[in-house]
Amino acid sequence: MIPQSFIQDLLHRVDIVDVIDRYVKLKKAGANYVACCPFHAEKSPSFTVAPTKQFYHCFGCGAHGTAISFLMEYSGVGFVDAVKDLAQSVGMKVPEPERSEYSQKKASETHDLYGVLLEAARYYRSQLKDSPRAVEYLKGRGLSGDIAKRFGIGYAPDAWQNLDQAFEDYGAKPLVTSGLVKQGEGSKRYDVFRDRIMFPIVDVRGNVIGFGGRVLDKGEPKYLNSPETPVFEKGRELYGLYQARRAIHDAGRVLVVEGYMDVVALAQHGVGYAVATLGTATTGLHVQKLFRQADEVVFSFDGDAAGRRAAWRALENSLPELVDGKSVRFLFLPQGEDPDTYIRQHGKDGFEALLGSAVPLSRYLLDELSSRSDLASAEGRAALVSAAKPLVTKLQKSAFRAQVLHALAERARLAVGEVEALCGLAASDAGARARAAPPPLKAPRAKTAPSLPREALRLVISAPQLAETMTDDQRRLLAGDPDYAPVAGLVDRIRDAGISTTGALFQALREWPDADLYESFAGEVLEETASFDDARADLEGILGKLELHRVEAEYGELVSRGVSTEAERERFNALRAKLGELKGGRRVGNVPPV
Ligand code: UTP
Ligand code: MN
Repeated sequence: MIPQSFIQDLLHRVDIVDVIDRYVKLKKAGANYVACCPFHAEKSPSFTVAPTKQFYHCFGCGAHGTAISFLMEYSGVGFVDAVKDLAQSVGMKVPEPERSEYSQKKASETHDLYGVLLEAARYYRSQLKDSPRAVEYLKGRGLSGDIAKRFGIGYAPDAWQNLDQAFEDYGAKPLVTSGLVKQGEGSKRYDVFRDRIMFPIVDVRGNVIGFGGRVLDKGEPKYLNSPETPVFEKGRELYGLYQARRAIHDAGRVLVVEGYMDVVALAQHGVGYAVATLGTATTGLHVQKLFRQADEVVFSFDGDAAGRRAAWRALENSLPELVDGKSVRFLFLPQGEDPDTYIRQHGKDGFEALLGSAVPLSRYLLDELSSRSDLASAEGRAALVSAAKPLVTKLQKSAFRAQVLHALAERARLAVGEVEALCGLAASDAGARARAAPPPLKAPRAKTAPSLPREALRLVISAPQLAETMTDDQRRLLAGDPDYAPVAGLVDRIRDAGISTTGALFQALREWPDADLYESFAGEVLEETASFDDARADLEGILGKLELHRVEAEYGELVSRGVSTEAERERFNALRAKLGELKGGRRVGNVPPV
């Protein structure tokens, strides 16, 4: 755990404009900066960065956050890594929490692994130059030197202890842990990769985390892959994602293929937005990672039975990740072809034309299920619904799910409501909605009047320093009114955490259960251009009105109830004086009958 105080310091120290500008060229537009959003495809810029508030917001797709969340979303790194990157860029050192001996050891082991893998990749690359046979192989597959370099392709020579040349200590433990060297009988060690074309597998930060090695001629296995290690988890990683990022953003889509060579050959022919799973099924984590980079994911599989099985797995694991605005399609290649052979024969245009024919997930799902039963019979149509149930229930409630249910109902010749009920979707939703709903801000009393509690909230979010200028009386006033309770809660937390910019506030919000309520203001707050003094005056105005309401209400109650005790009379006088003050010195009311 990194202390919150450090995160706040860090966010004060970095400038979000600098950070984002390193990845996305920003253009000044009034007080803010704009660019085309890196998180969805668009032609005109709606991605906005506010230097004064230190946060960004996209009016197109709603993405928003701080320098930290930008790095996380853009590079796909985790929170801790994003914080470390940023800290380093401004010369701050992330405080290391007291670590146990064990975790310290683990951290330094991980560090060693990255080092060893990088060194090995360098070595294999250097060996490629000295192996005409390997170079010929790659040329024979249509690859240029540039592309080989872009993917860091190398060659492991045909010998048992190649890596002895690359490392001072061939016996070092990380060589074994990384999966590069195996411990044989007795103390004999040997290289795992021998006489193979080497494809380094690189994570989103550019670290080498493993290798795939292909035989040059016939041989088994055709591809040998690094084992899973503390830095390499196949269900998370995608080959080529690091190299493809730019092209994915430009194309607004990402293509998932089966093989290393497919990715490389596609890039060679100008289709740079392809990545490959690493000989494993597509997982939900893969899909999440891809959706962070593009709105559209296209899976391409061979047309054979194995390809169809892999496609179905990808479909199942994509379902929970689908939200409106994101889509998945499936491309089935002609028998005997893979993306590599296809693009070599038909070129980029031919391949992209084929890509255009990829089937949307919804159609693939329904066509596949329909083909499994006889829809001409009542039994078959019932079987369709029960086969669809475990799949549609994986979908989040969305316009997309509604579409799928409609289409399913049509094929099953049922009403949508009946299908929903059969799938158990109708009832559970109401419960889910009730649980998920953020605490509603009460509607304004009169339709036309703007909601003052909402306005107060908006002001505090757009200028969190307002929390510091508030008096304790004012804070109590807010806390005492249920409509304003969210404002009071926010003020308390801003004070506790020492937050001074909207960006820092949004960062801290991530840990609050009611973040949705506050985050819904992101867009409005970004457009707010009032100076701090104006915002403060506005808030004072609202607080004044709130106080007036409170005093009037109590005064009114005393008047109607009648004052009987001395204490009540005192209170009454105080209220009357206060009312006069609030209404600007006017004399208010008469002493009520005792
Ligand atoms: P393919 O057999 O379809 O190979 O395996 P490919 O990508 O078309 O390779 P080329 O064109 O013959 O060079 C697809 C993927 O399955 C994994 C690899 O990740 C490969 O890229 N695989 C395949 C293995 O891990 N081991 C194997 O022996 C074969
Ligand atoms: Mn192939």
